[in-house]
Amino acid sequence: MSEFVKIYSYGGVQEEYCKKINKIYHEIMKIEKPVAYVKTYGCQQNVSDSEKLKGMLSEMGFTISCDCDKADIILFNTCAIRENAENKVFGNLGRVKAIKKKNPNTIIILCGCMTEQEPVVQKIKLMYPFVDLIFGTHSAQEFPKMLYDILNKNSSKGKLVHIINKEDSILENAPLIRNNKIKAFISIMSGCNNFCSYCIVPYVRGRERSRRPEAIIKEFKLLLEKGYKDLTLLGQNVNSYGKDLEEQINFPSLLKKLDDFKYEYKIRFMTSHPKDATKELVDVIANSKHIARNIHLPVQSGSNQILKRMNRKYTKESYLEIIEYAKEKIPNVTFSSDIIVGFPGETYEDFCETLELIKNVKFSSLFTFIYSPREGTPAATLPDPVSKKEKTKWLLELLKVQESISQEICKKMVGREERVLAENYIENEKCLMCRSDGNIILKVPSNTDLSGEFINVNIVDSARESLMGSLI
Ligand code: 5AD
Ligand code: SF4
Repeated sequence: MSEFVKIYSYGGVQEEYCKKINKIYHEIMKIEKPVAYVKTYGCQQNVSDSEKLKGMLSEMGFTISCDCDKADIILFNTCAIRENAENKVFGNLGRVKAIKKKNPNTIIILCGCMTEQEPVVQKIKLMYPFVDLIFGTHSAQEFPKMLYDILNKNSSKGKLVHIINKEDSILENAPLIRNNKIKAFISIMSGCNNFCSYCIVPYVRGRERSRRPEAIIKEFKLLLEKGYKDLTLLGQNVNSYGKDLEEQINFPSLLKKLDDFKYEYKIRFMTSHPKDATKELVDVIANSKHIARNIHLPVQSGSNQILKRMNRKYTKESYLEIIEYAKEKIPNVTFSSDIIVGFPGETYEDFCETLELIKNVKFSSLFTFIYSPREGTPAATLPDPVSKKEKTKWLLELLKVQESISQEICKKMVGREERVLAENYIENEKCLMCRSDGNIILKVPSNTDLSGEFINVNIVDSARESLMGSLI
């Protein structure tokens, strides 16, 4: 473990503050059942962070509600990846102003990636002075104390408290409230060392730091014991897991350890960086019992020129080589990817190379984004002559190509028998929503609620990007 990474273990100190907060609400404010509203923007990593914050709020005695109007605490866990993610937060803050006016005791909290950017914080201070607390992505262990200070007026209530801790840290043993009883996220590492030229993540999430394998395995085992069936390992770049640890462990060997439990379950993981996706990783998936046959491998662009300017450190050819290897070794494997359209200086010819790559790989699904300049990143200073209108046209062209590929993949699956996980039951439709090994959604008619179970189905029909199945 790098000497700069501090591991915090949630425990006595935090619990003391949780108790004190509980007492303030009950005994001083006379609120019997305080309510907290938590809204999460952005990626799964943020969802996972919010689960910890909700866990702590629950320890403080809060009920977590989806209704912000009656909440005693409103917390926004923010995302900075694109401008529209930030704009959504600003829009919602505008709405919160009215709630705060009606009930000045409501505590407004902002945390997550946006709060790690100084210009954003300045804007909040200036335009949204009713925000009570701002804290960054490394300060979750301080959350109970920060909230206590605000309630206890240690920090001149009504004035914004802004706490950003720059040290790279990991928080272990935090209480968690998970949104789902079947699917769970396990964060295996945080931060990113790659500095892709468009990306804000390394600036807001700090350097890569891996959790110790023992801690991950313990959490993973506990989830299986509780009946979880679909476990997704999270990290900004899971393929570099372990590089910062003293022990000899890498991502494929961690996967092997997690593949070895005697339960029926699926392991998924995101996100992989293609430069670190190895044949060893593919071999581990191919030989595993539980790892889903689906690889999310963000390519971003199919043009070598653009990949170089993005600082991605792989070429179209090396990307296709690992895809071909996976196709050969893993029967029925599916791929998904992230694509950025309209990177500064990208030409229509570059874009056509991305289209070619998409047709070549045949991804089952794509997450597509128009390039959004992020202040402080190298790409934000590059000339960007193509208009937003033109970029949108390219994106629509790409989506059309992808739609027909997704349909083709679904059509090919008709007639197959698959073992899928029933995730939800829609009572009024008498229908199970299921997920295939390859991460494709299936609708399966059923008179009984089998959610949480693996079921065998015949795939009988395909519609757009999903499938219809029948119980065997
Ligand atoms: N503009 C547009 N898309 C971006 N992404 C990351 N940064 C930007 C940006 N500045 C996309 C990438 C990444 C995904 C999580 O978000 O495709 O893989
Ligand atoms: Fe958004 Fe990236 Fe932060 Fe996730 S890590 S919330 S995608 S900026």
